[in-house]
Amino acid sequence: MEKVRIAVIGAGSISAAHLRAYQNHPEVELYAICDLNEERATAKAEQYGIPRVFTDYRELLTLKEIDAVSICTWNNSHAPISIAALEAGKHVLTEKPLCKTVEEALAVEEAVRRSGKTLQVGFVRRYGANTEIVRTFVENDELGEIYYAKASCIRRLGNPGGWFADVERSGGGPLIDVGVHVIDLCWYLMGRPKVKTISGNTYNRLGNRANVKNLSYYKAADYDASLNTVEDMANALIRFENGASLLVDVSFTLHAKEDGLTVKLYGDKGGVELEPELTIITEKHDTILNVTPQINNRTFDFIAGFQSEINTFVGVCQGKAETLSPVEDGVEMMKILCGIYESAEKQKEIHF
Ligand SMILES: NC(=O)c1ccc[n+]([C@@H]2O[C@H](COP(=O)([O-])OP(=O)(O)OC[C@H]3O[C@@H](n4cnc5c(N)ncnc54)[C@H](O)[C@@H]3O)[C@@H](O)[C@H]2O)c1
Repeated sequence: MEKVRIAVIGAGSISAAHLRAYQNHPEVELYAICDLNEERATAKAEQYGIPRVFTDYRELLTLKEIDAVSICTWNNSHAPISIAALEAGKHVLTEKPLCKTVEEALAVEEAVRRSGKTLQVGFVRRYGANTEIVRTFVENDELGEIYYAKASCIRRLGNPGGWFADVERSGGGPLIDVGVHVIDLCWYLMGRPKVKTISGNTYNRLGNRANVKNLSYYKAADYDASLNTVEDMANALIRFENGASLLVDVSFTLHAKEDGLTVKLYGDKGGVELEPELTIITEKHDTILNVTPQINNRTFDFIAGFQSEINTFVGVCQGKAETLSPVEDGVEMMKILCGIYESAEKQKEIHF
């Protein structure tokens, strides 16, 4: 069988997770790489044995032999690159978030429809083993109807700087960067209910706190602390048409004692804590049980999650698999994220 020929656009930090997973896949040939920064693209090409290097993605997309692309660039380029790649007849895996605005999201969705190709949104946490287990429990009605979910991703010090902190290129701060993961995870496991109202708040009170010493954290490939136009924390209450609700808070900087990641779902038959450690809560014979699944990793396994996401995408390119994270879900997530920003800006509840 012919190998699937892949190009990776954007050769910064997260590209390594894509490249490693493609390299591990026996039916993939890493064919081209592109970055605005030629040195960075060349270094990755050498590391992964990739024959073609580009600095302009439009040139890369003219190569007929490329079947699919991974987009690992700044958020402001996800939509234009996705649309151009789809129009060039490539399947697309784009990093989260799908883009910056709902208008862009709808344009990408339209391009998917026109092209007949698949766009997979990089909601990598959907591909984690712990998520897969919860999905099986939910589908078998072990939790009953999920009516409440709670998600939190708190970094006390973790503004990645550079483009992440430039609202023009990122579209926002911790909400669009890490909030997208935990909100999507809850929404996906709740059965993707329709949003009814959103009430959100954002705060820019602490700045990036780049002055703090002796603590390391994730940084943009071109780290720069001088520009910071994004919120440092956000919270929201999302109400769905089926009556369920989701409470979320996220931060890049906060006077919190420690970092924390929690994803919890509550149904009328049982509950689940997906993060920080997979635990299922149930009741049997008038006794509450906290059940501990016996699995290799009770939290999200980054390497295995990416491998599973890439394996699914390659399966999509071969016509053997369906994506777990289609463009439509990326669009809905943009409506939620932009709704939170809009609510925070207008200081009122948004109705859909
Ligand atoms: N799934 C995850 O867990 C996860 C984790 C981190 C980042 N991400 C996402 O991955 C994307 C990249 O993040 P990162 O941490 O790698 O950032 P980064 O700053 O480390 O790298 C981004 C790279 O994109 C390049 N680039 C930007 N625009 C380009 C263009 N038009 N053409 C070619 N190259 C371009 C930059 O030169 C840079 O090298 C973002 O969308 C981010 O949200 C996802």
